[in-house]
Amino acid sequence: MISVPEIFDTLSYGPAPEDASPVREWLAAQAGGFRLFIGGQWRSSHAASPPIPCVNPANGEVLSSLTQSCAQDLDDAVACARTAFASWSKSGYERARVLYALGRLIQKHSRFFAVLESLDNGKPIRETRDLDIPLAARHFTYHAGWAQLVGRELPDHEPLGVVGQIIPWNFPLLMLAWKIAPALAAGNCVVLKPAEDTSLTALFFASLCADAGVPPGVVNILTGDGRVGELIVRHPGIAKIAFTGSTEVGRLIRRSTAGSGKSLTLELGGKSPFVVLDDADLDAAVEGLIDAIWFNQGQVCCAGSRLIVEEGALAALVGKIKTRLTHVRIGDPLDKAIDMGALITSAHRDRVQRFVEQAQAQGATLWQPEIPLPRQGAFYPPTLLTDVSPANIVWREEVFGPVLAATSFRTLQEAVELANNTRYGLAATLYTENINRALELAVKLKAGVVWINTTNQLDAACGFGGIRESGFGREGGLEGMLDYLRERDAWIESVEAGSTATATSIQAQKPQAPLARSGRMLAATLAGDAPPAVAAAGPMPGHIDRTFKNYIGGKQSRPDGGLSRPINDARGRLAGWVANGNRKDIRDAVEAAFLAERWSAATAHLRSQILFYVAENLALRREELTASLRRLTGGKAAACRAEVDGAIARLFAYGGWADKYDGLIHTPPVRNIALAVPEPIGVVGVVCPDEAPLLAFISLLAPVIAMGNRCVIIPSERMPLPAMDLCQVLETSDVPGGVVNIVTGDREELTETLAAHEQVECIWYFGSKDGSRRVEELAAPSVKRTWVSHGRSRDWMSVRHGEGRTFLRQATQIKNIWLPYGDSA
Ligand code: NAI
Repeated sequence: MISVPEIFDTLSYGPAPEDASPVREWLAAQAGGFRLFIGGQWRSSHAASPPIPCVNPANGEVLSSLTQSCAQDLDDAVACARTAFASWSKSGYERARVLYALGRLIQKHSRFFAVLESLDNGKPIRETRDLDIPLAARHFTYHAGWAQLVGRELPDHEPLGVVGQIIPWNFPLLMLAWKIAPALAAGNCVVLKPAEDTSLTALFFASLCADAGVPPGVVNILTGDGRVGELIVRHPGIAKIAFTGSTEVGRLIRRSTAGSGKSLTLELGGKSPFVVLDDADLDAAVEGLIDAIWFNQGQVCCAGSRLIVEEGALAALVGKIKTRLTHVRIGDPLDKAIDMGALITSAHRDRVQRFVEQAQAQGATLWQPEIPLPRQGAFYPPTLLTDVSPANIVWREEVFGPVLAATSFRTLQEAVELANNTRYGLAATLYTENINRALELAVKLKAGVVWINTTNQLDAACGFGGIRESGFGREGGLEGMLDYLRERDAWIESVEAGSTATATSIQAQKPQAPLARSGRMLAATLAGDAPPAVAAAGPMPGHIDRTFKNYIGGKQSRPDGGLSRPINDARGRLAGWVANGNRKDIRDAVEAAFLAERWSAATAHLRSQILFYVAENLALRREELTASLRRLTGGKAAACRAEVDGAIARLFAYGGWADKYDGLIHTPPVRNIALAVPEPIGVVGVVCPDEAPLLAFISLLAPVIAMGNRCVIIPSERMPLPAMDLCQVLETSDVPGGVVNIVTGDREELTETLAAHEQVECIWYFGSKDGSRRVEELAAPSVKRTWVSHGRSRDWMSVRHGEGRTFLRQATQIKNIWLPYGDSA
């Protein structure tokens, strides 16, 4: 132990341990370990699985033990939650009171929580005390407000029911708060599974629920390992899964929820860039790095783990980092003067070490400060790797430890390319004193959150979540609330895709005779060649050549297979020919959409003007389109005209929305504002239903392109002609080539390629239950965003259900850009 005179000599900190005795007494009182919190009571498991030890990673001490839940325990929890839902979902005011009380109770027990979290997780008390616990309380008080307001602010929405929540070990109580607070505010009940390594604060939280007035069954906490998570994911009584954890498990969850109709949000891994320009305040950037990658021992999904420095500043910055790291103190997490605690387990520390060794073997240069490290426990020093190439393992893979990989750049363009060259997209940090460069980069960085001259800022009011393989959905703010709600009465349940029943006022068409697949593929070279006569269906009287190719890159494009398919009218007569597209056509269309990225950077004003222009040009063809729809659908003239008018009006609506669907400005309780900017997703695949072949097509296409996406769209398989008619309208309305690409053919076959394509970042599928399941399965490997109909339909004629904010929300992703703002005094 260091003596007082020595402290005066060295000016170094003496030990300042936090008193853990109240926590230890509480742990000691749980003789036999913790049970499960179900229906407001502590219950033993129906099964007698071996208990899971709770280990303090700083010294290996066993603190207590947990119960491994079984399927029957989960059934009980879901049953209690369902029962509780009926009254819990009713009164926003009651929920607000309870959430506020939970926030106050967390504040009241904040020191207890902080100590318990440090003991269980190994993170320094300074962080649990100053960040994890206050932020957890803030989530409850913030969402108390939402509970009160949600009914009147989002009247077209309703809670989902029972929500299954699975959380990781890096921020145990904070993740619980992120999950439980919005879910309860929205009126749902929850079954939450904490991580098996860190369940203690969740169990202490459960013990406070009665005091806060949480009705029995509203919150259920089931402990156990990943197998319990799997049970939750599969449980039919659960309406939504909210998961935070590894991308690998996220993919598994996407696959196993496919087709179930469960709502899903995934907050997964990251490999976030930390960009420093040569005009940055380098000392501030170094402090930022301390918070970005050495905070919480680097076990942070949004950790700034890739340092990208402008070449001229590299040497100076690296020098400052090294000096700073020699002052970092690692040790007992309960010591208030400690900067870094222990990693979660020794196995995880060994994993981090293996990453570092591999990085060196791949050419990186290792530097670690010579600072004392405790001999016992899962400690790992702050680590800097320089000379890291983009191919190096530590540049690509999430290490989830205190390891920074550094490289340099010469131009802003190169910085953007380096930063975006990752399959993840959770967060990005940038340091510069130049506001122009800052905002240019903020727009170009592909991430759900961008921090300017600050890092790792999180608040309940600001949505947090990623893009690409970092997952989808947002937690916090309005976006987070919407992810715990569903639209009221938006879907018409009975319509199975493939039927000719419509959700519109268009009269039901006579079904076409199903064509054998081989029969559909009549070889006909499209360009110039007259289509072969079809035995079953003669040409229309007054025949005009209605032969369409695919529409790719702004041009009619001959289908790869050189095949076309006949399209019959309602009376079974040949109405025209469309391309029989194949995988290659979809790939070409995706490529064209990918290259049309300037559309995503175009101003909202321009997009708006172009949509109005499309609407105007469509209006010029109103009668012709009405007649064509009549022939195809067999509908009444008035109904067909209504569909055409509806389509024109919808284009006008999205022309209006294009420059009005703005973001929000959040004001978190720090000297920052966060701009919540709706950004285009990129290349969106759209698969249209058979009903309302013109209106549904326009209703899906228009919001996608209004928001700056480029799309590959598969029109109604039975009645693609109205969509193909639109090609000429697009051509004459200044829609740049590649923004809209239309491929016709066997819908399900084309969908397979579209949904699996790596460059398609989101897919909307309006079709059968089976098709919806397939799309969700195919989206799993790249963790693609999906919006599927599960065999239901929408009332396309209705403004409330056929257009508006839901469509716009599905066509955008929110980027939260944090900016310094206000008085720094
Ligand atoms: P994990 O993804 O396996 O665990 C997260 C949670 O999911 C835990 O509660 C776990 O019990 C549960 N789980 C595990 N398998 C499941 C399954 N098949 N179905 C449903 N739930 C399941 O993460 P793990 O193994 O703890 O850490 C591995 C790596 O994942 C870390 O090294 C890090 O790279 C990454 N990770 C990322 C996190 C983030 O915040 N994005 C958090 C934790 C880990």
